[in-house]
Parts: sequence; structure tokens; C-alpha cells
Amino acid sequence: MAKITVKANGPYLVLGAEIVDETGAPFPVEAGKAVALCRCGASQRKPFCDGSHAKIGFHAEERAVALKG
Ligand code: FES
Repeated sequence: MAKITVKANGPYLVLGAEIVDETGAPFPVEAGKAVALCRCGASQRKPFCDGSHAKIGFHAEERAVALKG
């Protein structure tokens, strides 16, 4: 099962999932290794994090809370 960790003020760390583009073509990632996906929008190598979140002072308030509905 894939595991996605939401890093505080940083990327999504994804382990155990195939990362593909809109055509289904896979991005080359090392098997068994976590990859960091950008969620701040500032990375120059999207969809991957390049550390730019720290340079722009990206701040996110998200915490795991129960879904309503
Ligand atoms: S989250 Fe790291 S560059 Fe966007």
C-alpha cells in the first residue's frame, strides 16, 4: 500500500506508488525509495520538490483531522 506523508510546510512524501503524468507515462523514480512531491508550486522540477518551499517561506496549516460529511 502506498503511504503519503504530508510534511509540515513542505512536500508530500510518497512511498510505494507509481508517479505518472497525465498520459500515464511514469516518472523515473528509484524503487523502494520515497519521493517528495511539491505542494507549494515553486519547484523548478515539478512534480518533485526541489527545496524551494523553504526559500519562499511556504506555510501550511494542515493537520490530520476527521472528515465531515
Ligand atoms: S514543496 Fe518543496 S518545492 Fe514545493
